[in-house]
Amino acid sequence: MTRRPDGIRGMTITGTGMYVPERVLTNHDLEKLVETSDEWIVERTGIRERRIAAPDQGSSDMALIACQRALEMANVKAEDVDQIVLATTTPDRILPSCACTLQRKLGATKAAAYDVFAACTGFVFGLGLARGQVGAGIADTVLVIGVETLSRIVDYTDRNTCVLFGDGAGAAVLQACDVGVGVHAVDMHSDGELGEVLEVPAGISVNPASDRTVAAHEHYIRMQGKKLFPFAVRSMEDSTRRCAETAGWSPDEIDLFIPHQANLRIIEAVRERLGLSEDKAYVNIERYGNTSSASIPIALDECVRAGRLKPGDKLALAAFGGGATWGAAAMTWTLAAQRAAEGRARHSGLTKTREAVS
Ligand code: ACO
Repeated sequence: MTRRPDGIRGMTITGTGMYVPERVLTNHDLEKLVETSDEWIVERTGIRERRIAAPDQGSSDMALIACQRALEMANVKAEDVDQIVLATTTPDRILPSCACTLQRKLGATKAAAYDVFAACTGFVFGLGLARGQVGAGIADTVLVIGVETLSRIVDYTDRNTCVLFGDGAGAAVLQACDVGVGVHAVDMHSDGELGEVLEVPAGISVNPASDRTVAAHEHYIRMQGKKLFPFAVRSMEDSTRRCAETAGWSPDEIDLFIPHQANLRIIEAVRERLGLSEDKAYVNIERYGNTSSASIPIALDECVRAGRLKPGDKLALAAFGGGATWGAAAMTWTLAAQRAAEGRARHSGLTKTREAVS
């Protein structure tokens, strides 16, 4: 395996998977709950429907299915996973971590498992962490997951937020490969000064649960959407540009851009600023709404299974979210999409990576 002069190894995606719950909540369903309309929601956000987890379904249950699909594509056994990095704002519960619960359900017995709280940027942050671990030779195989059961923290009496969010899970298997292919750059940022723009006011150590916090709906998401909008556009554009530059690409050379699916107008604005044509940016927000940390890995798996990515393609991911957090990633695709689409990808590790890229 080739390494950078400083010994750092490459890392690439060798499998993807997703899961969304069966129940569909349409804009027309929401018209019966709050004063809104299908027309307003579609025009202002691009969302037509979103998925809602069953009452007995937790984040770890959805993550389990997404991970099983990703591992099958990568032809990796759960017991061979070295680390599980699970990004979420809605873990099953605070203790144990959602990643540890997933580890037990998956049977990933040797994996170190931990949660990452970075809101909608969680999957990108997870890629950044995995890159450090794989690059340094600490781990060979890392599962990165984005999963949300946002319906549990959405106030269905608040029209400002309830029309936006949905549930789902996406996962990717990351493995060591030659330098020069796979993930070239992961850009990660935070600004705690913007914390109050998107928050769940009642916490664990601050403002703990009481009859008062429950009565005041303080365990639900509150958002100042208008303040987030320009920040979202600027931060995703800047971060994508930085990653492209590190990869040695001009932004308009990107073959596929997978942005966090928060609002169609935000996606369109970022795409135009990067100089990308409409077909280069993947959009599925109309079907799932904003699934926070799950939105990028869900979109990625849809692209892989639909054959939208071929070896050698330049792929960029970008996200922003509560915290505030934002970031992006740039990678040269190595997984042969047609084999993945047929569900019999047998790509794992160095040799196949070379074959796929050559
Ligand atoms: N139906 C009908 N009217 C509504 C609704 C609704 N569901 N929601 C708000 N309105 C009203 C508002 O009350 C306002 O009325 P007013 O003028 O009488 O006060 C009017 O519509 C316009 O509201 P704006 O806030 O100006 O609408 P805007 O065009 O900015 O769209 C939106 C709102 C969709 C929230 C947008 O600002 C946005 O997408 N912002 C980014 C938010 C985001 O992406 N958040 C997720 C972050 S990801 C994470 O970390 C979880």
